[in-house]
Amino acid sequence: IELIDADRRHFRLADALEEFGESEKGAVVTYVLIDCPPSLSLLTVNALAAAQAVIIPLQCEFFALEGLSQIMRTIETVRTRINPALDLQGVVLTMHDRRNNLTNQVEEDVRGHFGDKVYRTVIPRNVRISEAPSHGKPALLYDLKCPGSQAYIQLASEVIQRERARPQAA
Ligand SMILES: Nc1ncnc2c1ncn2[C@@H]1O[C@H](COP(=O)(O)OP(=O)(O)OP(=O)(O)O)[C@@H](O)[C@H]1O
Ligand SMILES: [Mg+2]
Repeated sequence: IELIDADRRHFRLADALEEFGESEKGAVVTYVLIDCPPSLSLLTVNALAAAQAVIIPLQCEFFALEGLSQIMRTIETVRTRINPALDLQGVVLTMHDRRNNLTNQVEEDVRGHFGDKVYRTVIPRNVRISEAPSHGKPALLYDLKCPGSQAYIQLASEVIQRERARPQAA
């Protein structure tokens, strides 16, 4: 709410990150990952204004598709008005359950629409992932071998590959 009347309200995060890069003498910051809230607010717009690329996690549920078209419209608006360099890195399907018809239908729709933008890796619905926070641990430290953690490791390598292929990437 305080941001509403602020100068450069869409660029507060971008400005802060720039300063951070300059003030941390000796520290080399290569990548900054910004985790966003699910709603499209001024905070989300600040993240999109500061970012070079976006990763969209998508739950394999019907209403997620509506959210996806909404975020795509927002990205387009941010591109035209605020940050022309903003790239869609990819869409990651999560809470995936092969036995569920809806999951397969959502996957087919999203891949049909977004093609290669959808990562090959999908994150399965996995109880070990949901247990991890209650032990105060990230999933990879809680259970490295579980299918969910293994999928996240595979996703990370796909993300790194795409970053290397992006022309403006470091
Ligand atoms: N692959 C998965 N399998 C099972 N449960 C999962 C999985 N991924 C996430 N969860 C459960 O869903 C909860 C929310 O996940 P997460 O915090 O990643 O979602 P989020 O969309 O970032 O939520 P928020 O909007 O609160 O930031 C987790 O605490 C976990 O219990
Ligand atoms: Mg979150």
